[in-house]
Amino acid sequence: MSNPNYPLLDPIRLGEIELPNRIIMASMTRARTDNPGLVPNVLQAQYYEQRASAGLILTEGTWPSRESAGFISVPGLYTQQQADGWRKVTDAVHAAGGRIFVQLGHTGSSSHPDLLDGDLPLAPSAINPGLKAFTPSGFKDTVVPRAMDLSDIARTVEDYAKATRLAQDAGFDGVELHGINTFLIPTFLYENLNRRTDNYGGSSENRARIVLEIVDAIVGSWASGRVGIKLSPGLTGVGNFIAGNETLATFEYLIGQLSRRHLAYLQLMNPVNDLTGTHLEVLGQDVAKHFRERYSGTLIANGGYTFETGNALIRDGFADAIAYGAPFISNPDLVERFRDNLPLSPSDRDTYYGGSEVGYLDYPTADAK
Ligand SMILES: Cc1cc2nc3c(=O)[nH]c(=O)nc-3n(C[C@H](O)[C@H](O)[C@H](O)COP(=O)(O)O)c2cc1C
Repeated sequence: MSNPNYPLLDPIRLGEIELPNRIIMASMTRARTDNPGLVPNVLQAQYYEQRASAGLILTEGTWPSRESAGFISVPGLYTQQQADGWRKVTDAVHAAGGRIFVQLGHTGSSSHPDLLDGDLPLAPSAINPGLKAFTPSGFKDTVVPRAMDLSDIARTVEDYAKATRLAQDAGFDGVELHGINTFLIPTFLYENLNRRTDNYGGSSENRARIVLEIVDAIVGSWASGRVGIKLSPGLTGVGNFIAGNETLATFEYLIGQLSRRHLAYLQLMNPVNDLTGTHLEVLGQDVAKHFRERYSGTLIANGGYTFETGNALIRDGFADAIAYGAPFISNPDLVERFRDNLPLSPSDRDTYYGGSEVGYLDYPTADAK
């Protein structure tokens, strides 16, 4: 019996997928793919299988091409070997009764030449994002990237289409486009980082163009009901990602255009900073509240929610489902713990990225404790 106080426990349809609950596992880079081909392995199959009771699993950010890499030991989905590795993951999750989308993301200027065989990272304009990149020899300052020409843009769009075809081959239930934080997509959206004078810069419509081209390429390679996108419209003050006068209007334009595309969902991540005094102040801390009326499809909210605040946001009509990140690291049975009102285990930040099964596969379920 459905309990109106706990809509997170109700089923929902996302595009072509039926979910048994609205508790979604957000994408989390864990950097356990420590092999030269960046092929997912048995560790990842076990990790995601342990979390199969989530309404939907969104994988860690995954490279759609060699040149999109920006972090060590993160898997790709641009070779057949990688697709075969992911097949082990999707089979394990499906056998355990779960559903899984792959998150595809291009790092753009947040990468570093050390991760790209010496090549410069790609960006809309040659502007250093002012961040630290995690390279094989530790954290290094980002560099001035190479401004993409039109052939770079066309190739990037096509790389997402190819990765989407491999995602079907690998047995995924769908694809999420990574559009958050300091990756390539937001770099196009912020007017101080996108100084282009062609069709990809200069106005909200032009700055959002590449995002819609990528979405349309992914949809064209599969189906709109198999595609979601994650955006962080409250991002400002991270490196040189500083919202300007037009940034909010650009996100509003983009989300309005996405609204027409009948995607499986739009996921919105909340700000990591206090927005008071910034150009994004109107968004507040729950960005879904601002965008709900601008998006007609299924909306997933993410960022800092508990079982109580997630249920409240859905009850108040501002979202349809909630994606949980960090709580899923240390609570593989997060759905059962929420449902049965069991305490949550804390996670160890030291083992978030890299290493072995420690801090990855060894968090017990509540009933195993
Ligand atoms: C270890 C770690 C890795 C993350 N990696 C990604 C990623 O690859 N892609 C992504 O979209 N978000 C990533 N995130 C952000 C989460 O998906 C989520 O948006 C964020 O943790 C906020 O949700 P929460 O408050 O429930 O943790 C990561 C978060 C953590 C803690």
